[in-house]
Amino acid sequence: MAKTQDELKEMVAHKALEFIPEHGILGVGSGSTVVKFIKAIHEQGIKIDGAVSSSNATTELLREIGVPVLDPNCCEPYEVYIDGADEVNDNFEMIKGGGACLTREKILASMAKTFVCIVDQSKLVNTLGAFPLPVEVIPMAREQVARTLRALGGDPVLRKGCITDNGCEILDVHGLAISNPKELETKINGIPGVVTVGLFAHRGADVVLFATDDGVKQKQVSRLHRYADLSLMG
Ligand code: A5P
Repeated sequence: MAKTQDELKEMVAHKALEFIPEHGILGVGSGSTVVKFIKAIHEQGIKIDGAVSSSNATTELLREIGVPVLDPNCCEPYEVYIDGADEVNDNFEMIKGGGACLTREKILASMAKTFVCIVDQSKLVNTLGAFPLPVEVIPMAREQVARTLRALGGDPVLRKGCITDNGCEILDVHGLAISNPKELETKINGIPGVVTVGLFAHRGADVVLFATDDGVKQKQVSRLHRYADLSLMG
């Protein structure tokens, strides 16, 4: 029988427990799949030395289960970051930010040696962009950023009632079929007033765990591919 999305998220959240390093810092993302992951840590009695957290909501949950949450400024780059995504393509590039935590997520992903992305199968896509692309903006720049996004072919819509943990706003950009995610990430990040775009292409995932009706499957980026990509970035 086909599983519900909630059941699939539960499955992948449990599978992710295997990727928690025995010692050291764990990076923890945000969203409903991550909430299940944090609950699973608690249920299984897994001991975490300390975590860096991508949102106030995640911080609260981690503290509730007794995990010390550290300031990333006081941490060295660490081993594993675990987080969900809104879309993932075959190159392990993602759209993230449906939960408005994209900036802190990107910072923590940039500090991690391994990014483990945990999704249900509905998040796997050929081309990114059917999910509206979140862009975090400084409020006074919102309209000018929106004009520029329209010039790039998108249709930005202000996310109503949403103020991020950084005191900023989110424009959700509809109507993009993203043929070159890295190029678009660079372009949008370069618009004055943009804090972060929710395209995770330059720093994609290293491992994608995706839950299907037949169980959780795993795809892993080849190191060669990642290094080749980094060398292109100069
Ligand atoms: C949070 O800002 C996002 O990047 C989440 O990782 C993404 O929206 C996936 O969320 P769910 O796990 O709730 O589907």
